[in-house]
Amino acid sequence: MDRIRLVGGNELKGEIPISGAKNAALPLMISSILTHEPLVLQNVPRLADVKQLERILENHGVDIAVHGRRRGEDEGVGQRMTFHAQDIVDTTAPYELVSKMRASFWVIGPLLAREHNARVSLPGGCAIGTRPVDFFLYGLKQLGAEIDIDEGYVVAKAPKGGLIGGHVILPKVSVGATHTIMMAATLARGTTIIENAAMEPEITNVAECLIAMGAKISGLGTHRLVIEGVSSLHGTTHEVLPDRIETGTYAMATAMAGGDVLLRGGRAEHLQAALDTLANCGVHISQEASGIRVRRNGNGIQPVDIETDPFPGFPTDLQAQFMALMTTSSGVSHIRETIFENRYMHVAELARFGADIKVEGQLATVTGVPALKGAQVMATDLRASVSLVIAGLAARGETVVNRIYHLDRGFERLEEKLGRCGAEIERLAG
Ligand code: EPZ
Repeated sequence: MDRIRLVGGNELKGEIPISGAKNAALPLMISSILTHEPLVLQNVPRLADVKQLERILENHGVDIAVHGRRRGEDEGVGQRMTFHAQDIVDTTAPYELVSKMRASFWVIGPLLAREHNARVSLPGGCAIGTRPVDFFLYGLKQLGAEIDIDEGYVVAKAPKGGLIGGHVILPKVSVGATHTIMMAATLARGTTIIENAAMEPEITNVAECLIAMGAKISGLGTHRLVIEGVSSLHGTTHEVLPDRIETGTYAMATAMAGGDVLLRGGRAEHLQAALDTLANCGVHISQEASGIRVRRNGNGIQPVDIETDPFPGFPTDLQAQFMALMTTSSGVSHIRETIFENRYMHVAELARFGADIKVEGQLATVTGVPALKGAQVMATDLRASVSLVIAGLAARGETVVNRIYHLDRGFERLEEKLGRCGAEIERLAG
């Protein structure tokens, strides 16, 4: 299993190109099931999760092609890929494939909308909480689906003639349930209203793609989405938006290590809460034409309290990275995780660097220490893994992060991007 070795102490200086967002690319790929015409996606990141979803889509009969880089395009540009679901050959998404990644469960929406039936294994994914699927099942039932659970599979059937528009009030904001019900509703007969919908920029990116495919959706960027069903969708070309979590991660890395980095392609409006927090910590943030510049020269990091929240709040996907930053702040900070009940697995690993963190329920209290010391640590989930890299960038001496396959699920060429900015970091194979 690959590991990452790094030696802390170098400031970061230069430019980091931000890749396409994993959490938009995955549902965009899944929307290709909704049409028999080709969907071309640009700026698709090169990630293990994208590869895994390719396998799942291919199993349903989607033809996938990766196009070469165009002349003049640099390596920072993501892949251009075509997804062509001319015929759906199988409406079952098997356990062996779905258990590896929770988002693959979302195929249930488009399969049900187009083929009127679906049999999808209950999902797996990062072990950050119980992560049930009750909102999905409730939402699909509101669209007329009949649902049974059979041997670990959700078996869903649409009424004769297909799904019917319905009123869905989500009990809690859910990104996955919003994506899935929105995709399903595009081909339902009549109008669907989703109340308390997630407003994450990735939802809007997917809604824009669906609209370009012929869907009728209004209320983009709000908690109330209105979808008027149409009889069919067609192909289009659509660009995956820049990854706000990758952007925030490198912003925190720069804050931690010190230096001056331009996050090329990053869009401040997609992570304002996190950038404002960094500014309160004493980090200089400025939006430039080509991206976000992050600077910390000499001054220390101030402690700041945060609570994770759905967009536009502070993202849970940046909580672990922010905690790493707080370990060397000049005082005590409090972090409250409100989205997932088990998203503190990095705490024990950060302690191996000498961090002082106490957890009581959903509240973590981080008392800054003057310096961290490099350590052998273990990646436990995607965002937790990168928090260990961030800690290692500022720690004295050598750090080795084991089990980095978690990192490869969501960060493209991480060691190369950080290495080019002056970090001493390498991947150790095997
Ligand atoms: C998405 O997960 C993201 N994944 C996650 O990113 C992210 O952490 C999360 O949204 C929150 O922002 C992708 O976009 C692929 P939710 P999702 O449904 O959709 C509860 C990463 O690191 N819930 O918004 O699975 C749930 O348990 C990943 O890139 C139910 O109770 O999250 C949680 O407490 C990890 N029942 C809350 O809602 C349901 O049926 C929000 O989860 C569905 C969700």
